[in-house]
Amino acid sequence: MKRIETDRLIVRNFKPEDWKDLQEYVSYEEVIKYEEDWDTSDEGCKSYTKFFSKGDTFWAVELKDSKKVIGHVYFNRAKPERFLTWDLGYIFNPLFYGKGYATEGCNAILQYGFEKLGMHRAVAKCNPDNITSWRLLERISMRKEGLCKKAVTIKTTETGQPIWWDEYIYSILSEEWKRFECKYIEQI
Ligand SMILES: CC(C)(COP(=O)(O)OP(=O)(O)OC[C@H]1O[C@@H](n2cnc3c(N)ncnc32)[C@H](O)[C@@H]1OP(=O)(O)O)[C@@H](O)C(=O)NCCC(=O)NCCS
Repeated sequence: MKRIETDRLIVRNFKPEDWKDLQEYVSYEEVIKYEEDWDTSDEGCKSYTKFFSKGDTFWAVELKDSKKVIGHVYFNRAKPERFLTWDLGYIFNPLFYGKGYATEGCNAILQYGFEKLGMHRAVAKCNPDNITSWRLLERISMRKEGLCKKAVTIKTTETGQPIWWDEYIYSILSEEWKRFECKYIEQI
């Protein structure tokens, strides 16, 4: 299992038994306002964590003190792979907002990408109305590259028509990255 240790967090691969913590935060309406709907049933959440635990795309963010999983970071290699670019995303539990945990977790993942994976560029996208999301991106030194008009549809109207959203694109390059303190722990 891959683990990254920061001051207050362990950012690590998911384990199937994380499903209850995941269920807690994906069940808040405010959390999925700008996201695809999640299946919040016990079975649904068990299948998410089982799937996440098989790869390195979804990283659980655990509080060091309580061992509670308070959110996750999505980190997916974009195609074609020779572009050395990863997409970044994140969802956290509202009970733990406003403490810098998302900043710390995302910094750890970016550091891992730049130091261990040879990442050249990381990209993140968000709805301009999702202010806490783009403020997070600016805290982790990502640069706004542009605004794409009516670029995505995630939700539909009551009659099933797509609702089109604008999207900000943020990025950071390896040469722009300022080193963040964390430890990589390989665990059997
Ligand atoms: C996006 C999201 C992760 C941001 O959460 P957040 O709590 O604002 O972000 P952080 O954990 O980094 O906390 C930052 C806040 O803590 C404060 N803070 C306290 N201690 C801090 C520290 N040590 N380091 C950094 N910030 C700290 C910051 O000042 C900031 O507060 P402010 O917003 O009042 O200025 C969260 O809103 C979320 O999960 N949203 C739902 C899912 C979602 O929309 N995902 C994105 C889809 S594009």
